[in-house]
Amino acid sequence: MRIDVVTIFPDYLAPLELSLAGKARDKGLLDIRVHDLRQWTQDRHHTVDDTPYGGGAGMVMKPEPWGAAFDELAIEDATVVVTTPSGEPFTQSLARELSTRGRIVFACGRYEGIDQRVLDHARTRTEVREVSIGDYVLNGGEVAALAITEAVVRLLPGFMGNAESLVEESHALSDSGASLLEYPVYTKPAAWRGLEVPEVLLGGNHAAIASWRHDQAVRRTTERRPDLLPAATLLDGVEVRLAE
Ligand code: ADE
Repeated sequence: MRIDVVTIFPDYLAPLELSLAGKARDKGLLDIRVHDLRQWTQDRHHTVDDTPYGGGAGMVMKPEPWGAAFDELAIEDATVVVTTPSGEPFTQSLARELSTRGRIVFACGRYEGIDQRVLDHARTRTEVREVSIGDYVLNGGEVAALAITEAVVRLLPGFMGNAESLVEESHALSDSGASLLEYPVYTKPAAWRGLEVPEVLLGGNHAAIASWRHDQAVRRTTERRPDLLPAATLLDGVEVRLAE
């Protein structure tokens, strides 16, 4: 996979040099490059923003530098990912989808966003996804691009040593298509500061352990993320339903 990140703060993406992307790079799975948007400006001041048509607070990113950046990078089968709080929610399912792409170009917006025509034009040539990592507003899309990259790269075939851990973790899909949060986990010692590891995990009854873990996952999901719970979920053999 090839990933290009376009930003006015390339230093923000320095963590990409650390273990995850570096590991994927060493394995030959990933070619990742960070670009300063200002290299595609033409004026002496390297201007990337201007006041919004129609008035209002803040600045809007100018179309020309982004257009030139996309002309160069958003080629062939590229998927452009624009990180913005007004995008579609980023989920494990979108991470899985993006992990199948050959080429991703991240456009990290700042200020009030990028001139809409940049995205409208890019859509005539390539796939464009506007993506939000949550219902809160960051100062720019760089941290979102980092988060999305990490979630996508670890799904690349050949990246994770142990494919089992991909199956069991939170937000992995079960056979029924349901998504539950992960059950609590424990390691040695069996007693620590007066707190004991649940008895069932100390025995070798694999069916009992699987059933306990499933119930714990359902309990957690019911408590923390009832929106994720499928309508007919069993807890202790009883159906727990979503409050409508
Ligand atoms: N840029 C600013 N806030 C954001 C968010 N929540 N998700 C993605 N990009 C953003």
